[in-house]
Amino acid sequence: MNDRYGRSIDYLRVSLTDRCNLRCIYCMPEEGVYKKSHEEILRFEEILKIVNAAALLGVKKIRYTGGELLILKGIEELIEKTSKVPGIKDIAITTNGILLEDLADKLKESGLSRVNISLDTLKEDKFKQITRGGDINKVLRAIQKCISIGLTPVKINTVLIKGINDDEISDFINLTRELPVEIRFIELMPIGQGEKLYEKGFMSSGEVIARFPELMPLETNKSSTASLYKMKNSKGKVGFISPLSCKFCTSCNRIRLTSMGTIKPCLHSANELNIKEYLNNEVLLTSALKEVIYNKPSQHNLECDKKSSSNKMMYQIGG
Ligand code: 5AD
Ligand code: SF4
Repeated sequence: MNDRYGRSIDYLRVSLTDRCNLRCIYCMPEEGVYKKSHEEILRFEEILKIVNAAALLGVKKIRYTGGELLILKGIEELIEKTSKVPGIKDIAITTNGILLEDLADKLKESGLSRVNISLDTLKEDKFKQITRGGDINKVLRAIQKCISIGLTPVKINTVLIKGINDDEISDFINLTRELPVEIRFIELMPIGQGEKLYEKGFMSSGEVIARFPELMPLETNKSSTASLYKMKNSKGKVGFISPLSCKFCTSCNRIRLTSMGTIKPCLHSANELNIKEYLNNEVLLTSALKEVIYNKPSQHNLECDKKSSSNKMMYQIGG
């Protein structure tokens, strides 16, 4: 359905857990986060009810995220059931890739269409430092595995932070010469732990594009958050996601469901609706969803405020 500004909302992003097996410096505090009890987190049956209601209102695409969703048992069944919901045409996940290699076959069989894998460096030591202890080899093997079984296009999310990984931009771009992957450079957002790094670490997409004149712009689909580029004769693509320097609010087509059962119509707004209250009544659930969609805020003000207005962190909302 359309919101009050005429944007067609057909994409639901669902954070399945706020827990994670990594502790990336721009996302989670080193000590980890308060563990929510099982009652506080939506169960898969509840998520499926919400997906059903959203599909009735025209949602066609679902993305499951976290925290890290692959630490949860039964993800394959959730994906399989989601793929059977009438109207759902596309199911994707965003994962840190640590547990993906072994699960990729099963996920594909269950109906998963695509994966986005977060990877902020190509160096083993730096990966350990950024993620506070992760093993990059697991992620690299997962990427190879997804390519080999055709779980493609594999998109790789790279948050750029000046002084930390800006020396590797050309290495990432060069990966696209031989691999059919899309490297998506994401501007660091001043949310959660990112707020601390933002002042010194923010790098705009424009700054990077200016440094690499060999990147040729490609036509981009209107609702895509990334502007796409390509190197001559390369197998993959390079994308830039610029929530600050070139925000995409006017073509935003998404709403979000947090693992605590709130619907967030905008990543950076404090607006949230507790949808749990409506789970026992399909009619009330649908009308509550309708109202949130209709009243989706027109835009965020991150670039002026230098701070997100969200009351939730990235690991609670999903990227
Ligand atoms: N700024 C930009 N991206 C972020 N992510 C997490 N925190 C931030 C932030 N402050 C990204 C992760 C991952 C996705 C889930 O969200 O890198 O790609
Ligand atoms: Fe986990 Fe992703 Fe946050 Fe890293 S960015 S700590 S992988 S949720």
